[in-house]
Amino acid sequence: MKLWLFGLYGIVSSTAVAGIKAIQKGLSEETGLVSQLPHFKEIEKYSPLSFEEFGGHEIRSLDKNLYTELEKHWEKNRHFDYKILKALKDDLSKIKAKKGTALNCGEGVLQELSPIETLENDGLHLAEIVEKLEKDITDFADENSVAINVASTEPLIPYDEQVHGSLKGFEKAIEEDRKDKISASMIYAYVSLKNRIPYGNFTPSTGSSIPALKELAEKNSVPHCGNDGKTGETLVKTTLAPMFAYRNLKVLGWMGYNILGDLDGKVLAHKSNRESKVRSKDKVIEKTLGYSPYTITEINFFPSLEDNKTAFDFIHYEGFLGTKMKFYFIWDAVDATVAAPLIIDIARFLNFAKKKGVKGVVKELSFFFKSPMDTQNYNTHSQFETLVKWFKGLNP
Ligand SMILES: NC(=O)c1ccc[n+]([C@@H]2O[C@H](COP(=O)([O-])OP(=O)(O)OC[C@H]3O[C@@H](n4cnc5c(N)ncnc54)[C@H](O)[C@@H]3O)[C@@H](O)[C@H]2O)c1
Repeated sequence: MKLWLFGLYGIVSSTAVAGIKAIQKGLSEETGLVSQLPHFKEIEKYSPLSFEEFGGHEIRSLDKNLYTELEKHWEKNRHFDYKILKALKDDLSKIKAKKGTALNCGEGVLQELSPIETLENDGLHLAEIVEKLEKDITDFADENSVAINVASTEPLIPYDEQVHGSLKGFEKAIEEDRKDKISASMIYAYVSLKNRIPYGNFTPSTGSSIPALKELAEKNSVPHCGNDGKTGETLVKTTLAPMFAYRNLKVLGWMGYNILGDLDGKVLAHKSNRESKVRSKDKVIEKTLGYSPYTITEINFFPSLEDNKTAFDFIHYEGFLGTKMKFYFIWDAVDATVAAPLIIDIARFLNFAKKKGVKGVVKELSFFFKSPMDTQNYNTHSQFETLVKWFKGLNP
């Protein structure tokens, strides 16, 4: 299996690739991989854990390679054993990104990742940008390939029915160079789905979630899923909120306050880039409980933490006889460490889905996402049951 990552040099992407390589070389255990649970043992036949090749698009450090970039992340975070990093040096040094696009990626990306090198900065028409990105991915991919968006979070582009509502409108906008209406994540999803490459959106950016691209996926019989990996505070929220619901306890208010550093934190420090992430994190409470308690969801940049994201949650709830009580938790994890195995899982399940003839949005993969497409199921417990049932159903 081959894996193409948009945002190849980020900490999540580079840690995922290092993780796969480390497991393949027997340097690490498989802990954290959902696809290695006994429930999914048949996946090995369709999407083995052995990945052969990695590639991707980037907008910075294009003269560097995956090893140099992971080493920089490692120096700040020391998020795994240094012996593993050293043992992978030769393999990771061979992996190099192709030049991508930062179209409508917002001031967070433009300012914090500067200097950036992008196709639109080369003065290309939108159709030429699409053509170049498509060539990179088709030169790389085969029947066993999956693409995942792990690039920085973009601002939300207002929905425009003319452009986003149908494939015809979307392709017309490309021909007309409508750079104001189309973002990088949409183009990445478009070139993947157009070439029958399953696409996963690990970010809150729009990606394949517009009707135009859902239509393309159906037309080309290719599976896709997203949005925004559910890895930390939101995973706990959507696991814990059902407990209040099951016990008929009334949640009155839920405050989640997140602090993080690193590149992701820097980009999210910009209001427009942060908005999509806050929305994605905030709405899960209402979706899980079925009503809307008072919520506060904050994300703030805290430089010295680097990738060690900390979330403080406070829940105010009402029990028997109207008594008001409180629950607090602190989530303190290395963001890339909890996210990286999910990239591997999503890629394997998408490849499995394609082989089983599944097309369009795979809502059964909602277990992996904060804002799952085309489903109202946000409850982690029932999402897991749905995933197991779906998988078993395809392996009678
Ligand atoms: N636990 C987690 O870490 C977690 C959970 C859910 C979602 N995410 C999302 O995953 C994404 C990656 O997170 P990260 O911590 O690796 O961030 P990061 O900043 O380390 O990596 C992002 C990478 O994307 C690159 N990039 C930015 N815009 C690009 C574009 N248009 N095309 C190609 N490359 C581009 C950047 O240069 C950078 O290397 C973010 O959107 C984040 O919100 C992360």
